[in-house]
Amino acid sequence: MSEFPHIEYPIHIPYNLRVYFTQKAFDVGNPLFRDLACSKESGNRRKALFYVDEAVSQSKPELADEIASYFDHYSEELRLMGVNVLPGGESLKNDDKCLDRIYADIERSKICRHSYIVAIGGGALLDTVGFAAATAHRGIRHFRFPTTTLGQADAGVGVKNGINFNRKKNFVGAFAPPFAVVNDFSFLDTLPDVHLRNGYIEAIKVALIRDATFFDWIEENAEALNAFDRKAMEELIHRCAEHHVAHIATSGDPFEMGSVRPLDFGHWAAHKLEQLSGFALSHGEAVAIGIAIDTLYSEEMGYLNASSAERILALLKKLNFEIYSDHLERRNGSRFPYVLEGLEEFREHLGGLLTITLLKRVGSRFEVHEMDTDVVLRAMGRLKKLS
Ligand SMILES: NC(=O)c1ccc[n+]([C@@H]2O[C@H](COP(=O)([O-])OP(=O)(O)OC[C@H]3O[C@@H](n4cnc5c(N)ncnc54)[C@H](O)[C@@H]3O)[C@@H](O)[C@H]2O)c1
Ligand SMILES: [Zn+2]
Repeated sequence: MSEFPHIEYPIHIPYNLRVYFTQKAFDVGNPLFRDLACSKESGNRRKALFYVDEAVSQSKPELADEIASYFDHYSEELRLMGVNVLPGGESLKNDDKCLDRIYADIERSKICRHSYIVAIGGGALLDTVGFAAATAHRGIRHFRFPTTTLGQADAGVGVKNGINFNRKKNFVGAFAPPFAVVNDFSFLDTLPDVHLRNGYIEAIKVALIRDATFFDWIEENAEALNAFDRKAMEELIHRCAEHHVAHIATSGDPFEMGSVRPLDFGHWAAHKLEQLSGFALSHGEAVAIGIAIDTLYSEEMGYLNASSAERILALLKKLNFEIYSDHLERRNGSRFPYVLEGLEEFREHLGGLLTITLLKRVGSRFEVHEMDTDVVLRAMGRLKKLS
């Protein structure tokens, strides 16, 4: 505490992180969005500007009309300021120009802090639109409607958003809790299998660090999940989202001021791999490989027993995740592959001491502050043989 004269008041800002589950949110018979947008606490603020992921808009061409009809139906309470389409996927986060376009829309539509921005799409679109919403007018309330399993289970239900800079993941961003998240399962109807599967990896991740029973459940339901059985997927999403929201709300560090970031288990390598692949590897695919590396690393270091490591890799394989990529071998003359730069970039992004989450058991994690690069290389070598 400084002894210099100073003025100091604590500022407590209560946030409420809310995730709703529904089907067909813009069916006029579904009052959820109206109820949320026009609730007492929102003070009847009701202008809304929409951004829809291009892939969602193409695979569900009636969506814009449904939204328009919804707003017509509730016209006394809601006012639609436009439904804009943006390309989805990582290319959006790599395109800094798209922010200018969103800011221009916000300015033109006179969207103020008492209005809403509504993002409907994959995690990449939610991250981008969420960042624009968090920064325009220093923060506009925003709704997230994640349309991928990964978005509904993880990316869409948290408090972070952002875009890439110089192809570095999430280099520019902000912590801004959404006004509300609506997980509308009917959006999953048009999602390609590869992206349906991607969300499973974040569920495995959160089960590994927090909940052995959930891990058992994923194992027991692997066949149903492989068949994209809707009941199993919805349960996985619900349980995974619950863990993420609970962690954010109760870990004591919602805005990641410290260095510990357990929800990023397996992500130091994953973020680098996404970049090394020119974003050909999706976030989910890269996280599967990152989890495989940190699982074998935990085993090699004697923290995790061999049968648990085997069990984890078996589940990844059973759910048809690749556990190795040739991008792990890319190097620039030295004996060290580029992927190891992911460790320093991870540290830099968080600040402070390098902090990597590892496993003690299924459902139980701990942190280390250094990684032995030879052991990381050995773990990657084993994965190559196993893949
Ligand atoms: N903010 C966070 O806390 C957080 C957490 C985890 C991941 N993320 C980010 O989320 C992103 C990954 O999100 P993702 O896995 O949802 O991938 P994504 O946003 O790249 O979407 C995958 C693809 O599916 C398309 N798509 C989306 N919904 C669809 C639908 N219903 N039907 C048909 N196509 C559809 C998209 O256009 C895209 O091409 C990464 O950028 C990652 O860094 C953010
Ligand atoms: Zn992730």
